[in-house]
Amino acid sequence: MAEAPTASAERALEFVKDGDTLGLGTGRAAEAFVRALGERVAGGLAVRGVPTSESTATLAQSLGIPLLTLEQAGTLDCTFDGADEVSPQLDLIKGYGAALVREKIVAASSLRLVILVGEEKLVDVLGARGRLPVEVIPFGVALAKRRLEALGCPGELRTGDAGPVVTDNGNHILDARVSKIEDPQALDAALLGIPGVVGTGIFAGMAEAVVVQTATGVRVLERQA
Ligand code: A5P
Repeated sequence: MAEAPTASAERALEFVKDGDTLGLGTGRAAEAFVRALGERVAGGLAVRGVPTSESTATLAQSLGIPLLTLEQAGTLDCTFDGADEVSPQLDLIKGYGAALVREKIVAASSLRLVILVGEEKLVDVLGARGRLPVEVIPFGVALAKRRLEALGCPGELRTGDAGPVVTDNGNHILDARVSKIEDPQALDAALLGIPGVVGTGIFAGMAEAVVVQTATGVRVLERQA
């Protein structure tokens, strides 16, 4: 997103009702949404949030947004999050920010999932940006790498300055090399069949609406029934 995603955050707030319980995503677009939500909460809006990462929890707390655990929240009204790819069917790839597992759990706990992206995230076919994050428990990384290779999407262990990236769940990320993913559900199922894989960045059939920030404004894409 070229500009700070404040306009899409403001537009996404139109999906929020007083009294809602909201899933709070992770990443730049989600952070813009949480900041905009924090301003409404300071102005009297009564909502509660379930964060998808420790970083979002810290941000939401600093803004005075009351937080709940998933156990306390039960079914959420709506989750707001970013994405790394959005297909024309509104299927997603997520997880470049390494929060994919908690993001998918929170999204699956919600009645609605609203995604905020810049238009550069819109792709013709999932996989177009070349990588699919897969979260793996550390003990299973070697096996998962061999199985990913056999599936035709070799995985590279994501590293940072301090070595392998460690997720909020204590796991590692393999970034699988992909191109056009013909059947996202089938690839998701195949990857989840690898022992030690705890989640993939494929979010198929989950997003209800995508708020797209363009150079000239904001438009909303809605899932066709
Ligand atoms: C975090 O794991 C991701 O799924 C993010 O939601 C995604 O990477 C989008 O992040 P940005 O809004 O920072 O691009």
